Amino acid sequence: MDNSIVLFLLRAIHVVGGVLWVGGVVIVAFFLLPATQALGPAAQPMMQFIMGRRKLSVYLMILGILTTLAGVLLMVRNISLTDGAWTRSPMGIGISVGAAAAILALVVGMTVSAPAARRLGGPPRPGATPLTDAERAGLMRRLALGTRAVLVLLAIAAVLMATARYF
Ligand code: HEM
Repeated sequence: MDNSIVLFLLRAIHVVGGVLWVGGVVIVAFFLLPATQALGPAAQPMMQFIMGRRKLSVYLMILGILTTLAGVLLMVRNISLTDGAWTRSPMGIGISVGAAAAILALVVGMTVSAPAARRLGGPPRPGATPLTDAERAGLMRRLALGTRAVLVLLAIAAVLMATARYF
């Protein structure tokens, strides 16, 4: 893994993936969800397009997984180069806490937000009855709660990743 091209690619995938992941969640939390909540059922066609056709939740999941995989490989490299001492350094501790927050964000996104978003925006399943207003409201609450939790965890991860080098 110490090939300089591999290292460059891992760092590029990690940082650019992280930027796009956090940026995407910010747009969902601060722009898309408030617009959907304000419009109510009238937002359904837009949600269907963004979630069903453009697959926003899949896009965010892929970014989260790529960022995490590249981060894990970079972490393994740092640990093996220093015989484990990196994990006890201030930078190692900062990055590890940030990584834990980002991984938790990925888990919450995949298990809470994405399934709710898919049900809200996806085409009705064959034979299934369309969502009632109460079901739609429940799914919106779940999506908003999940997105808020993901946003807070990603903010913690991004701040620690960006500053740990200077601890
Ligand atoms: C929101 C998600 C994330 C963002 C925005 C992010 C961003 C960054 C940035 C900007 C750096 C460069 C820091 C510097 O060189 O000063 C970095 C480094 C690092 N990140 Fe992340 N990261 C994220 C998630 C993760 C995760 C999930 C892991 C591990 C599981 C991880 C592991 C690492 C490691 C080990 C480094 C040091 C790399 C090196 O030695 O070159 N990161 N991250």
